[in-house]
Amino acid sequence: MQLHKPVAALWWFLLVSSVVQAQDFLQEQPAFFKPCSLKDTNSGPCLSATIENIFQQWRNGVPGLRGVGALDPFRVGKIRIAQRVPPNLDVQVALRNMSTMGLSRAKILNGTTLFNSGHYSLGFHVHLSQIGITCNYKLKGHVLVLNLNSSGILRSELDNLEFYVALKMKPQLVKGLTFMNVTAIKTDIARIDRVRVNLTNLFNGNKELESSANELFNENWRVLFEVLRPVLTQTFDAVLLDRFTKIFNYVPAKFFFADFA
Ligand SMILES: *[C@@H]1O[C@H](CO)[C@@H](O)[C@H](O)[C@H]1NC(C)=O
Ligand SMILES: *[C@@H]1O[C@H](CO)[C@@H](O)[C@H](O)[C@H]1NC(C)=O
Ligand SMILES: *[C@@H]1O[C@H](CO)[C@@H](O)[C@H](O)[C@H]1NC(C)=O
Ligand SMILES: *[C@@H]1O[C@H](CO)[C@@H](O)[C@H](O)[C@H]1NC(C)=O
Ligand SMILES: *[C@@H]1O[C@H](CO)[C@@H](O)[C@H](O)[C@H]1NC(C)=O
Repeated sequence: MQLHKPVAALWWFLLVSSVVQAQDFLQEQPAFFKPCSLKDTNSGPCLSATIENIFQQWRNGVPGLRGVGALDPFRVGKIRIAQRVPPNLDVQVALRNMSTMGLSRAKILNGTTLFNSGHYSLGFHVHLSQIGITCNYKLKGHVLVLNLNSSGILRSELDNLEFYVALKMKPQLVKGLTFMNVTAIKTDIARIDRVRVNLTNLFNGNKELESSANELFNENWRVLFEVLRPVLTQTFDAVLLDRFTKIFNYVPAKFFFADFA
């Protein structure tokens, strides 16, 4: 499309101003939001229900908020992992176009809050019965006894994943309304029953070697998962921090929590 310069400039102006407006804040309390009390130590079930509702009701994104995509499938453009843990692993991995299925079926097992020197902490346990991941991979280095240098498609399935999320947030006033500023996030994988992986094209299309390599990975999934756990947790924290920060900047605190006006 060719546009004359002044027309293009006007078009950009309209686009940019509509983005700014669309990102302002959520105007109306969604019907499924029941504000919980942050200071009440018995608000656990209320918090669990609210968080679970957020996962389910906003699985296609948050209405009016750009930059927070769908949760199911959840897409991440690019992840890089470099991990060296002799003797089992020394790899550089690039994952692109990642698509994760199953997050909207998250069950929140419990939730707790803590108020401490101006900060609120929100902690909850999440259970996911099955997660499916598909992405393009590029891998170089060694895994267990194999030397690898390949690229292809990676598919993975995770059974019974349970993790803990702790969010630290600080209320702040913006144009007369209180929003939560998320200042830290920490996740911890509490349980995982099984990981299956399937990588295509591990040995230039040699199917026999490929399938025995995948078998080796799947037989040793627990060992591989443990050496990758720190970097997976970091990646997960970064993805969640981005998402929660955007949501809490957009949704006034009073829609979540009864303690604010
Ligand atoms: C990215 O993934 C989606 C869905 O998994 C697929 O339809 C699309 O073709 C992929 N794009 C690339 C460039 O691989
Ligand atoms: C939350 O649930 C998990 C899993 O059932 C449990 O391990 C944890 O102790 C619970 N936490 C609280 C605060 O109840
Ligand atoms: C890995 O494969 C790429 C592309 O096939 C090739 O250019 C590169 O030299 C290989 N690296 C090693 C260390 O074998
Ligand atoms: C939110 O907290 C971060 C880090 O704690 C801080 O740098 C930032 O200025 C805060 N945001 C606003 C809008 O005050
Ligand atoms: C891995 O995926 C390939 C291609 O989709 C398929 O042919 C193969 O059967 C799969 N292997 C396993 C162990 O699931």
